[in-house]
Amino acid sequence: MKNIILGITGSIAAYKTCDIINRLKKKGYNVICVITEEAEEFITPLTLETLSGNKVYKDMFKLPDKRDTIHVSLAKKADLIVISPATANIIAKLASGICDDLLTSVVISSKSPVLIAPAMNDNMYKHKITQKNIQELKKIGYKFIDPTVGHLACGYVGVGHLADLNQIIKRIEKALK
Ligand SMILES: Cc1cc2nc3c(=O)[nH]c(=O)nc-3n(C[C@H](O)[C@H](O)[C@H](O)COP(=O)(O)O)c2cc1C
Repeated sequence: MKNIILGITGSIAAYKTCDIINRLKKKGYNVICVITEEAEEFITPLTLETLSGNKVYKDMFKLPDKRDTIHVSLAKKADLIVISPATANIIAKLASGICDDLLTSVVISSKSPVLIAPAMNDNMYKHKITQKNIQELKKIGYKFIDPTVGHLACGYVGVGHLADLNQIIKRIEKALK
């Protein structure tokens, strides 16, 4: 069974993760969620744990077994790392090699392919820094599932809407082939 590490970050689109997990589970994948501190403002670990059937990881330092370097063991397990939704912040941190939380530490410790589905306000997405960060990550082989034009949480229509879920699932399956 293929292991997908699903990184979830602090975007309003985090609720869509439930559907993504359900669909991946139905297709026979093992989904392990790693969330940021801010993601928990949008979706509960209980929901993710119930849907995925796996423990949800967030803290590097609060694990019962302190001998386990959890970021390294999760990184080793991953056949694919998917970050959906990906905030401007996580994209910036990954592009700079910052690893100050579990998710960034897992990504930087892993040799598996990385697939990123950004979701954010259109000004954040179009900002030169965000675009530069995306380009930097593309240069090292990270793949992106581009956001679409749609209704944004800020109340208007623009680019930054999380890609269509069918598209996300298709890209995940393609990356795992
Ligand atoms: C209601 C609300 C919705 C937000 N939605 C997004 C979003 O879709 N994309 C984004 O990049 N940031 C969004 N943010 C800001 C992020 O939560 C913030 O930058 C946070 O520090 C990201 O942390 P993380 O990348 O570690 O999860 C939102 C903030 C709030 C209060």
